[in-house]
Amino acid sequence: MVRVTVGVKGRAYDVTIGSGVIERAGDHLPDLQQATRAFVVADRTVADAWFEPLASALVDRGLTCVHLAVPRGEGAKTLEVYEALLHQLATQEAHRDDVVVGLGGGSVGDLSGFVAATYMRGVPFVQVPTTLTAQVDASIGGKTAVNLPEGKNLVGVFAQPRAVLADVASLATLADRDFRSGLAEVAKYAIALDVELLASLERDPAGLLAREPGALEDVVARCVRVKARTVAADERDAGERLFLNYGHTLGHALERLDAFAGRTHGEAISLGMVFAARLAESMGTCEPGLAGRTTRLLASLGLETAGALPPAGEILAAFRLDKKYQGGVRFVLLEDVGRPAVVDDVPEAAARAVLEEMGAA
Ligand code: GLY
Repeated sequence: MVRVTVGVKGRAYDVTIGSGVIERAGDHLPDLQQATRAFVVADRTVADAWFEPLASALVDRGLTCVHLAVPRGEGAKTLEVYEALLHQLATQEAHRDDVVVGLGGGSVGDLSGFVAATYMRGVPFVQVPTTLTAQVDASIGGKTAVNLPEGKNLVGVFAQPRAVLADVASLATLADRDFRSGLAEVAKYAIALDVELLASLERDPAGLLAREPGALEDVVARCVRVKARTVAADERDAGERLFLNYGHTLGHALERLDAFAGRTHGEAISLGMVFAARLAESMGTCEPGLAGRTTRLLASLGLETAGALPPAGEILAAFRLDKKYQGGVRFVLLEDVGRPAVVDDVPEAAARAVLEEMGAA
């Protein structure tokens, strides 16, 4: 069991990582004062597997769990589902000290965090991430949101949870594709921010790929430490937190473009990291060999490094909607592995040329 503190000023909290964390959830929660009920937001599949163990563990803390069911995946992050959850809390007379728990992947975490941050102007919130993506990234750092038809995460607030419980046992039953999607975020930390993790993945990713509990605990804890450090230094995304978006400019564009709606977040950011490395190489701003090293790592983790792309013009238009856009597209590019920088003045022609080399028409 590993505990990592996210040292956000005045609202520090712990992330507990290990196998069996949910079954001992009562031991890992901070003091929740007058809370008598925990409203657990989860889709039915996740609830079938984890609601009962969580509810039994919280009885000892005097908490009665109530399941609030939501649709699976990104489809849950709508204003309609958000409103329905608020009605359920109100009709069940949830009070200000009661706790909302997000049990599931990143979508449930974003949605339930936004509910917790806004119901009665804010009630305590606990994240219990059950996917690799959510454990290493989405559950930490207090980003909450729902989508609008016009774009992802357009409505939300920053609101830190009171605790994050990351049970690596929940990763054993993840579908291969979902697990791989999380590996893309792991690769992001390794390439952009943690060269020791990169070296260890390059040496031997077998334990991680076999989902051995010890290997999972080590890798999740390592990523969480990087995320915790980054969020503590820049809670509001004004500086180094932007580095966590490495590979995400193209990734988000691919997710946004209809033809690629089926691609997972991880598949999209995997291509995004290949693109970012090739772009930095083409501009001569990074050490040579970055793109090759990136591609080899991603391929060794079973991730896509080449594939059909939408037309370059559509991708460039989507770049302009990126949240990092500030009068021009800003990319996170690497000077070398472990050395990220936010680059404001990437010529559109350079981005277009790399997209075309990668097969965009
Ligand atoms: N997932 C990027 C961030 O939390 O800032």
